[in-house]
Amino acid sequence: MTFRCVALHERVDLLDKCCDLLNTEWKRSHGVRSRFLEKSNHEFPCSLLMLDEEMLIGHARLSRIVSEEKSLLLTSVIIDPNRRGEGLGRKLLHLTEEYAKKRGFTYLCLSSESKELFYKKCGFYETSPVQQCSSNALQSKFEMLQKSADHATSTNEVDEKMPGAEDESKVHIIPPPPPLIKSHYQVSSNDEISKKCWLRKEI
Ligand SMILES: CC(C)(COP(=O)(O)OP(=O)(O)OC[C@H]1O[C@@H](n2cnc3c(N)ncnc32)[C@H](O)[C@@H]1OP(=O)(O)O)[C@@H](O)C(=O)NCCC(=O)NCCS
Repeated sequence: MTFRCVALHERVDLLDKCCDLLNTEWKRSHGVRSRFLEKSNHEFPCSLLMLDEEMLIGHARLSRIVSEEKSLLLTSVIIDPNRRGEGLGRKLLHLTEEYAKKRGFTYLCLSSESKELFYKKCGFYETSPVQQCSSNALQSKFEMLQKSADHATSTNEVDEKMPGAEDESKVHIIPPPPPLIKSHYQVSSNDEISKKCWLRKEI
């Protein structure tokens, strides 16, 4: 079987299918989901589609990270529910890593609440939180704000359960949080403490 990854912005004909795939796991309206995916572009964020011949079977999204020029944030990793357990998740990560490497990046970072073991099996190890960058245009704004706000935190707004909520137009520099119970515990938007594990891999 031939698996390959293509960028969504080069295969816009697969946008609806990609919406459906992501919605099998993270329910969003078609409009919200489409707008999220339509942001895919060569300069990141970039949605990668894994195809089996011409059939869409997986998706992963790469975004820039604040203050880490050589790293990308990996989100919205998903394999078609009917194709799980065949080693395709591992394959998707491998193809995504290859894509990132070819683009000159050295690390992939991600956060996970429940799939930590899967990622560790694929070579990721625990790390400290990183901050997603919305776009190149906003990165410089971020850097400027960071310089003037010594205490800018490194929280990540990405909620793996709601990739549609990854609103890249919203960039928050928030005041320093209270001490966390553990480095990988994080206060979510509804003030609940969730166990979000941050992982990284050198590619
Ligand atoms: C997580 C996901 C991408 C894994 O895809 P998959 O194709 O089933 O995974 P693979 O078959 O490639 O598994 C690779 C290895 O990870 C293990 N693994 C897969 N899912 C796992 C899980 N949830 N927990 C622990 N180990 C897992 C497999 O057993 C396999 O291990 P092995 O090499 O020792 O046999 C898929 O289950 C999925 O799409 N889940 C829903 C979306 C999601 O939660 N994404 C992650 C967001 S952080």
